[in-house]
Amino acid sequence: MKADILKAKSILDDARVVGMPTETVYGLAARIDMPLGIERIFTTKERPFFDPLIVHVSSIEQAQSLTTAWGDIPEVLAKKFWPGPLTLVLPKSAKVSSMITSGLESVGLRMPSHPMALALIQEVGVPLAAPSANKFGRTSPTSAEHVSAEFVKENVFVLDGGECQVGIESTVLMVKGAQISVLRKGHVLRSEIEDVLESSGVTFEYVEAVSKKESPGHMKHHYMPAIPLVLIRTDSLSKEEIIAKAEAALTAMPDVVEDVKITKPTQGIKKAAELVLSKDPVIASRELYSEMRRMAESGADLLYFKVHAHHSAVSEKERWEGLFDRLQKAASLII
Ligand code: TXA
Ligand code: MG
Repeated sequence: MKADILKAKSILDDARVVGMPTETVYGLAARIDMPLGIERIFTTKERPFFDPLIVHVSSIEQAQSLTTAWGDIPEVLAKKFWPGPLTLVLPKSAKVSSMITSGLESVGLRMPSHPMALALIQEVGVPLAAPSANKFGRTSPTSAEHVSAEFVKENVFVLDGGECQVGIESTVLMVKGAQISVLRKGHVLRSEIEDVLESSGVTFEYVEAVSKKESPGHMKHHYMPAIPLVLIRTDSLSKEEIIAKAEAALTAMPDVVEDVKITKPTQGIKKAAELVLSKDPVIASRELYSEMRRMAESGADLLYFKVHAHHSAVSEKERWEGLFDRLQKAASLII
């Protein structure tokens, strides 16, 4: 493990990118103090420059040096949820370049809990910017093999840290003074965040809406597998009906929506396959991306996922929201 970390460090010190395991998904990392490395994240991912990167730290002191507003709210939340799948969006300090934040005055900060990620950041001694290690708009990687397969041409070195345990990206929470807003749902729930803040006596107010300018990474489509995915909300459709409806609707769809290429069938649909996930939302989230990839490679030319009654059971409802946010964006079509 140590030899691989040293190799990754030398690549990063050379202003190049490496695949880094985290507990959520694999990241494509570069040193925050090397503009060429940061630029290479965008070019390797084919990511538009308007979509800001998350900065990964290995200590709270490092996080504090990257923001001008480390107040009670980040302190309480970092103590409770770090290292872990929560990103805090805070006013940036001068240490963070505007290429990382896409020109915004705020920066997303997170301390990942994967031991290899923490060891790498510590070894490099500088925080690492890392978006998910997939081409822009496509399914995020949850294993080292996924990253290598995504960047064959680019020949990216990947630290192999096994399969990601959370499986969907971190919860992104914007903190503006006493106001908080969830910008992206994830394993850490809004109710858990509010409970922690309430019990610590910190003053805060939950604000639902933020402007598109403050949260630029929100495209209609994202996480798309290599074959079209259809999300089925209508009960009692037969497989033949699903195929017929999908074929008609997908053919009529635009090729690109908000910069993301929509996956459509190249010819008629011959083999549709159902994406089946665990009935436990935590396990289902862990399975989601690797199952989407596995099935896209299985010879099927259409994937469908059926919404079931257990997805709306009151006690688990909030736990399913992160996964459904991904499924909706990954779907070419919802029927
Ligand atoms: O779990 C994760 O967060 C993974 C692992 C690798 O840490 N990273 C990740 O990065 O999902 P990425 O680039 O795929 O998604 C980052 C998203 C952006 O698209 C944007 O929506 C939001 O985080 N974001 C980052 N910085 C922001 C900022 N300053 N203001 C608002 N949103 C921001
Ligand atoms: Mg991503």
